[in-house]
Amino acid sequence: MRKFPEGFLWGGATAANQIEGGWREGGKGWSVSDAARAHFDADVKDYNRHNQITTRDIEEALAHPEDEVNYPKRHGSDFYHHYKEDIALMAEMGFKVYRMSIAWSRIYPNGDDEQPNEAGLQFYDEVFDELKKYNIEPLVTMSHYEPPLNLVLNYDGWYSREVIGFFEKYVRTICERYKHKVKYWLTFNEVDSIIRHPFTTGGLIEDRFPGKNFEEVCYQAMHHQFVASALATKICHEIIPDSQVGCMITKLTYYPYSCKPEDVLETQKRMRSIYAYSDTQVFGEYPSTLLSYYKNHNIHIVKQPGDDEVMKQYPVDFVSFSYYMSSCVAADETGLDVTPGNTILAVKNPHLETSEWGWQIDPIGLRISLVDLYDRYRKPLFVVENGLGAKDVLSADGKVHDPYRIDYLRKHFKCMLDAIEEDGVELMGYTSWACIDLISESTKQISKRYGYIYVDLDDQGNGTYNRIRKDSFYWYQKVIQNNSLDF
Ligand code: BG6
Repeated sequence: MRKFPEGFLWGGATAANQIEGGWREGGKGWSVSDAARAHFDADVKDYNRHNQITTRDIEEALAHPEDEVNYPKRHGSDFYHHYKEDIALMAEMGFKVYRMSIAWSRIYPNGDDEQPNEAGLQFYDEVFDELKKYNIEPLVTMSHYEPPLNLVLNYDGWYSREVIGFFEKYVRTICERYKHKVKYWLTFNEVDSIIRHPFTTGGLIEDRFPGKNFEEVCYQAMHHQFVASALATKICHEIIPDSQVGCMITKLTYYPYSCKPEDVLETQKRMRSIYAYSDTQVFGEYPSTLLSYYKNHNIHIVKQPGDDEVMKQYPVDFVSFSYYMSSCVAADETGLDVTPGNTILAVKNPHLETSEWGWQIDPIGLRISLVDLYDRYRKPLFVVENGLGAKDVLSADGKVHDPYRIDYLRKHFKCMLDAIEEDGVELMGYTSWACIDLISESTKQISKRYGYIYVDLDDQGNGTYNRIRKDSFYWYQKVIQNNSLDF
């Protein structure tokens, strides 16, 4: 019987802005995600429609605080009121770890407040206590598409240097408060995503930077996040000496469309650009690939004295990433079929099947990713997001039969095990996205379901919010129980 390593951290992942709801309760302030509108009519290939946000859109969102249909993240899956039940279900599956995020705007409602919001701190105290009851270790993302909206409106988001200070204060507050409850931390979810969706990651809106090169704005904001991430690692280690802090990247995986050297070269370039962000956070300095990109595209990043030293001095302890799909690259992509993936639109691989949203299913790509990342960094890895978004159906028997999800997961788990056993990769754990149905980031639909637990809710916000165990729930329970796929 092939087994995963002893102590392997099995679990599931969510983010506050997609699961919590309770968006105006307990003193919470507006976050960027509360102002992110759904476009249910958007084509799957129009992957970026939801992130093309203007100042006018924000005004519109602010004018309609009662609208939870077009702004579904406002209600999420109502974890805010269901967390006890949800955590009990996680415990029933045997979770060792639960990846979640803290909504910054619950702790500092405007981001720049003098004092933290006690009710927000209390809420996460209760969540962590509930997890402790079942010996489930929290893995906490400090920032997962949740900057307080006030930082967008009054500081130009992460473009503003001042935001580093606000983030430091927030990190200090949560580390102090939860020092006896949380050991595993991630700084920024998919830190690289600021260049693909600048609003939700960085609080950046293009029309607020007239006359400026918006790409430069995004990279400047990312620089501030790199410095903030290093400072967060420092603070975390100081306050919680046995803590482990990881970076988190979108692990996009590209193959050459053909063996033409031109395609291979183009793929290598693309992959270097994917690794650039974890390179920065692991090695503590910008890689040559990013520096030459800046030079060749006339991008000038303003640094302050000490930034380079801070980044160098406080690199991350481990590398975590999301992996859902892979795509292809060609030197000349004219006429090639394209398909969406995680925040991208890229050349379709004729050898792979796709999900209902066009994402290409590729378990071997996960093994390739694990090996590449491990060889590159020699740091422990953590798969903190992976899963299948599908249109699950609540059957007449009151159950949700999702054999396609079990099949997806089984194949990915086998590849993880191959990477551990055959390739010698050090893998700390796996948290599938999302253990409970929640609002999709890209499409804002709940009908793009990822969970082991079905939430009775539709895209219009109708439903009871009841939780129903899917078939995959029982399957995952057995995987965890046996620490193996053989049962
Ligand atoms: C990751 C994000 O990129 O992908 C999650 O960290 C997101 O927040 C997940 O939900 C799946 O993407 P989507 O668009 O299907 O929700």
